[in-house]
Amino acid sequence: MAMAMATSSFLLLLAGFSLFFSSFSRAQMPGFVSIDCGGTRKYTDELGLEWVPDSKLAFGKTALISIPNERREQYTTVRYFPADNRKYCYTLNVKTRTRYLVRASFLYGNFDNSNVYPKFDISLGATPWSTIVISDEGSVEVEELIFLASSPTISVCLSNATTGQPFISTLELRQFNGSLYFTTYETQFYLSLSARINFGADSNNPVRYPDDPFDRIWESDSVRRANYLVDVAPGTEKVSTTKGIDTSNGDLPPQKVMQTAVVGRNGSLTYRLDLDGFPANGWAFSYFAEIEDFDANESRKFKLFIPGQPAMSKATVDVQENAQGKYTLYEPGYPNISLPFVFSFEFKKTNDSSLGPILNALEIYKYLKINFGSVDASTMNSFASHYPEADWAQEGGDPCLPASWSWVQCNSDPQPKVISIVLSRKNLTGNILLELTKLTGLVELRLDENSLTGAIPDFSGCSNMELIHLENNALTGEVPSSLADLPSLKELYLQNNLLSGSIPQDLLNKKIIFNHSGNMNLHEENNGKSHTVIVIVCSVLGGIFLVALLVYCCSRVRKNKKGSKDNVVSVPHAQKLSSFFSEVATETAHRFALSEIDDSTRKFEKRIGSGGFGIVYYGKLKDGKEIAVKVLTNDSFQGIREFLNEVTLLSRIHHRNLVTFLGYSQQDGKNILVYEFMHNGTLKEHLRGPAAIKRTLSWIARLKIAEDAAKGIEYLHTGCSPTIIHRDLKSSNILLDDKMRAKVSDFGLSKPAVDGSHVSSIVRGTVGYLDPEYYTSQQLTEKSDIYSFGVILLELITGHEPISNENFGANCRNIVSWAKSYVESGNVRGIIDPSLEDDYDIQAVWKIAEAAMACVSPQGVERPSISEVLKEIQEAIAIERGPAMADREGLNSKHSVGSSVNLDPAELATPEQRAALKDVFGAMPGFR
Ligand SMILES: *[C@@H]1O[C@H](CO)[C@@H](O)[C@H](O)[C@H]1NC(C)=O
Ligand SMILES: *[C@@H]1O[C@H](CO)[C@@H](O)[C@H](O)[C@H]1NC(C)=O
Ligand SMILES: *[C@@H]1O[C@H](CO)[C@@H](O)[C@H](O)[C@H]1NC(C)=O
Ligand SMILES: *[C@@H]1O[C@H](CO)[C@@H](O)[C@H](O)[C@H]1NC(C)=O
Ligand SMILES: *[C@@H]1O[C@H](CO)[C@@H](O)[C@H](O)[C@H]1NC(C)=O
Ligand SMILES: *[C@@H]1O[C@H](CO)[C@@H](O)[C@H](O)[C@H]1NC(C)=O
Repeated sequence: MAMAMATSSFLLLLAGFSLFFSSFSRAQMPGFVSIDCGGTRKYTDELGLEWVPDSKLAFGKTALISIPNERREQYTTVRYFPADNRKYCYTLNVKTRTRYLVRASFLYGNFDNSNVYPKFDISLGATPWSTIVISDEGSVEVEELIFLASSPTISVCLSNATTGQPFISTLELRQFNGSLYFTTYETQFYLSLSARINFGADSNNPVRYPDDPFDRIWESDSVRRANYLVDVAPGTEKVSTTKGIDTSNGDLPPQKVMQTAVVGRNGSLTYRLDLDGFPANGWAFSYFAEIEDFDANESRKFKLFIPGQPAMSKATVDVQENAQGKYTLYEPGYPNISLPFVFSFEFKKTNDSSLGPILNALEIYKYLKINFGSVDASTMNSFASHYPEADWAQEGGDPCLPASWSWVQCNSDPQPKVISIVLSRKNLTGNILLELTKLTGLVELRLDENSLTGAIPDFSGCSNMELIHLENNALTGEVPSSLADLPSLKELYLQNNLLSGSIPQDLLNKKIIFNHSGNMNLHEENNGKSHTVIVIVCSVLGGIFLVALLVYCCSRVRKNKKGSKDNVVSVPHAQKLSSFFSEVATETAHRFALSEIDDSTRKFEKRIGSGGFGIVYYGKLKDGKEIAVKVLTNDSFQGIREFLNEVTLLSRIHHRNLVTFLGYSQQDGKNILVYEFMHNGTLKEHLRGPAAIKRTLSWIARLKIAEDAAKGIEYLHTGCSPTIIHRDLKSSNILLDDKMRAKVSDFGLSKPAVDGSHVSSIVRGTVGYLDPEYYTSQQLTEKSDIYSFGVILLELITGHEPISNENFGANCRNIVSWAKSYVESGNVRGIIDPSLEDDYDIQAVWKIAEAAMACVSPQGVERPSISEVLKEIQEAIAIERGPAMADREGLNSKHSVGSSVNLDPAELATPEQRAALKDVFGAMPGFR
């Protein structure tokens, strides 16, 4: 066969090393590439797919993993990359004007022995493809996308690690042969797979190669993942046939998929599924073939119904008629349809039809807008291709997006331009390449300490150029007079080269830093204008000293100007940002030395918790103060600037019912946040923790905890500007101090709301506490916190966890619907935690139960504000205390908590308010 030949034109490029497939032991589909990331050998798997290792990749490390019941060789290894602000790319050669499917898969397998699940982004070229969020170490995450190749290579890049380290298990490329996936938008949009389902499947295994010659993975409808293919109508039955169905034309679904289907015996088929990445515009097609034999007097006609989209219901499907016969494929669909995240649909028989609907398969893709990347992409790729041996030239993908190459900086235009190139000390030889002169946005060029030869080219096309470092090379020829025409030029370093001739007078007249010493044959023409010229002729060391001095002066000037309160800054060079920002942050937050943290935690000896953002350790400062030290997962933040911004934000949030932020440490790549230590752990542990911690909280103690937490949340929602939405309220984020006063933790790492209105971002939160409205709409408001708080109130009443397979009866797993059925039928006693042993006022419980029900209303607008909830809680406390106050108060009715009628200065939020009171009260004990 001609397969081997076809494939060899289809080379795989890994970090500059091209692997040509010249021969194969067995037939391999044309245009198939299967990379076993982290693998070490070439092999053919059970399906007949030929796998190749990525061992020539210049970046990343490999690790072995082992998952029970996972025997596929490609899932025994991963390749992983540092969690820095770079991107790591695989580059693959493709045929232009050809459609491909590209598939990346990720099996975590705890390769790094860490408890922090990785989260990072992948992109196809400059186009953001998906965010990979690992939530289980043993299941494979798969991303698929269909594209029309427009250039001879494509790159799949990993970047932006939010937690953990980016990694990849497999990368696959499959070439299509037909036009099923043609769309009129395909030069502007990719198709990113959301659902590809084989209905009526005869097993849980997906159908793929060799049944599907293009190796699409058709998922079985009998695998029920969470929120995927639920709400199946009664009377839904599987049917199948062994008769042939012709699907050989182009890239139609394979016969095996079309030979099975579901039919709605009761007249309808209904399904609901979550569409990743939606709401969006998408491509949605269904595949039908009549595979049941029925009499001529019977008919099967049906219509599609999508809630809220009446326009989609018009066409009546009569499979047999539309397909012109039985066992023939009919594929109606919508090439551009707007679909929600939670997609419900129904196929319903028409009144004149005797049989219910049939469905064999469907596919839904999301349109993903192609980002064409930097305007300098081809120039930069051409530049890098001259250095095939150098690692820095093999980074792949777009020079600027989604992250720039390590030696490049770009501006933030939608189609960015390269503004800085730093290739100092990289052993560059030969001429300065002319590509560099075509970078019209270039501001900074550093090629110093190489072995560059030849003449300095004409940079007059780079009209924004400010900084040119060409010192310590072997450049020859004259200093071009065009340098004098660069309007923004500030610094020019040409020392220690072999330049000759006379320096253009215009250049000497420019008010710039200009060093041209150490060029034996270079002369200055003397015409007496030298008083306006800043010529620094000194040693290399002297030059560096001067730059350092300038940086220092610059930062002094800014420091002296820091009269205004807000940290809006503009500093010209990124390198100077870090020192500047640490100054800003230290104005408000204490900076701990890493050694101090090391000592206080005894080198991170005692671990007391972990979460999405990192691991928490116990520590004790020299003065005896106990602290909780949160070590953020490497690079939770994009860089020092983002981290210090966050610190600045955190240090502005002060409230008695929020865990106090004491300071931070930023050193050796570690980002550390220091909080006060909370002696009594989490509310969750007290309600349901291990026997050692679990104590019975009295009802009044629970009410006080609810009050404290509500006050903390009220401050985030109303006392901060912009409003802060917590996003992850739960009983394990409510901490208790030594006096059992509650404080809310883990706030602030969430982004503040944009001018109080909706914020759309990736859904974050914890199952059981997550607002269903936020989940479906992805629109975040304060009301999502209210929902979570309602769940916490239910936990306080019932002692149960929010999700449980046992506690809520046969058909209910969720505390909300369980509690609702009791409260609505007037039986609040039926849900009260038995360990409270009747030691409560039922009216107070009713108040909290009603408040909780209002909080968990399905619609955000129906939920109360946190201040309204707080008022209800305080009324419940008043009822509970009754006339004989403080009797049953506190833990196990033993401790009593300070009376709430006293004016408590520490409760006042702002330092200013407290300072004002301090004047009045003087130094009171306990006054902070
Ligand atoms: C990096 O990831 C974070 C969190 O997922 C996201 O908010 C941010 O926009 C991403 N940055 C880029 C450059 O994509
Ligand atoms: C691709 O198309 C060619 C001709 O159109 C056909 O001969 C070949 O069998 C097709 N390949 C597949 C895998 O369908
Ligand atoms: C569906 O049909 C079956 C038998 O045809 C019947 O027993 C059942 O009650 C029907 N269900 C509904 C919801 O109509
Ligand atoms: C799909 O339709 C919408 C609305 O008509 C339009 O705005 C959009 O550009 C179309 N194409 C894509 C790929 O979304
Ligand atoms: C079609 O004819 C068969 C007998 O041949 C009968 O049992 C059946 O009820 C008829 N169906 C309809 C929809 O008329
Ligand atoms: C430059 O070359 C020298 C000698 O060949 C080598 O030792 C050094 O590692 C190289 N540096 C870089 C950055 O490639």
